[in-house]
Amino acid sequence: MVHNILTQTNGEVYVLLQGKRIAIFNIANKRSIAWAIAKSMDAQGAELILGYQNERTKTAVEELAQELNHKPVAVLPCDVSDPEQIDRVQASIREKAGTIHGLVHSLAFAPREALQNAYLLTEREHFLTALEISAYSLVALSRALSPLFGDKASIITLTYYGSEKVMPSYNVMGVAKAALEASVRYLAHDLGPAGVRVNAISAGPINTVAARGVSGFLDILYVHAQRAPLKRTVEGREVGDTAAFLASDLAGGITGEVIYVDTGYNIMGF
Ligand SMILES: NC(=O)c1ccc[n+]([C@@H]2O[C@H](COP(=O)([O-])OP(=O)(O)OC[C@H]3O[C@@H](n4cnc5c(N)ncnc54)[C@H](O)[C@@H]3O)[C@@H](O)[C@H]2O)c1
Repeated sequence: MVHNILTQTNGEVYVLLQGKRIAIFNIANKRSIAWAIAKSMDAQGAELILGYQNERTKTAVEELAQELNHKPVAVLPCDVSDPEQIDRVQASIREKAGTIHGLVHSLAFAPREALQNAYLLTEREHFLTALEISAYSLVALSRALSPLFGDKASIITLTYYGSEKVMPSYNVMGVAKAALEASVRYLAHDLGPAGVRVNAISAGPINTVAARGVSGFLDILYVHAQRAPLKRTVEGREVGDTAAFLASDLAGGITGEVIYVDTGYNIMGF
């Protein structure tokens, strides 16, 4: 059972996300960053809508959901390559939750070949798939769900430093993350007048299914721990807690940003 982290301000004790309903896409298993975010947000009192991509991951997500303090408002399928599924997600959330106050976009995909060979060899189809699933889906989900947003809503996505610097084998995913980070800024501009904030968390490497698809990922983990100022890799819980903060009103002045949760790796020159 996850314990609540109470926050104290001016003598008042409250939970950061009490009264907020937040939709999180997508959880694959207990190692998923989306699951770490779900646990942190649940601990802060949020009511959650949990997403999974397909039947293969459905049961795992339903079982994980039972570990939360608060039963999820809904557990929904969402394959972002199918625009009809995004429409159905909107309709289901409207029906089951009405208003929501946050969207977490924690999903990405590139065909394995594109993460093993030289970037120069990236095929057109693989490029388009990576960009569609990993970057365009943020635009599509934001557009579908923003009509359901209540006051002070927050959109959060997950990115990686390979958007800025060359990480061998990260390849087209680095290009997709660069598009994702630019999308964060444009969406922040479009949705800001409605009070909606849009930010990215640039997480350090974490051993998940998606990460294992990148050739040489274990070397990336090793080198990261050697070079990062904190001399270790980041924990999923630390990414989850940052997402909880960004979704909360404590982050009310932050939008269009990329926040690093990477044990400091990005500040190093050598
Ligand atoms: N693990 C890391 O080292 C790391 C670091 C920085 C950023 N990220 C980012 O974090 C996010 C979550 O990845 P993760 O590491 O938790 O891995 P993960 O494999 O647990 O999660 C990836 C999710 O993407 C979903 N997905 C893939 N194709 C999809 C589609 N067509 N429609 C809907 N969902 C789809 C999968 O079902 C899965 O739930 C990704 O954006 C990833 O790039 C990961």
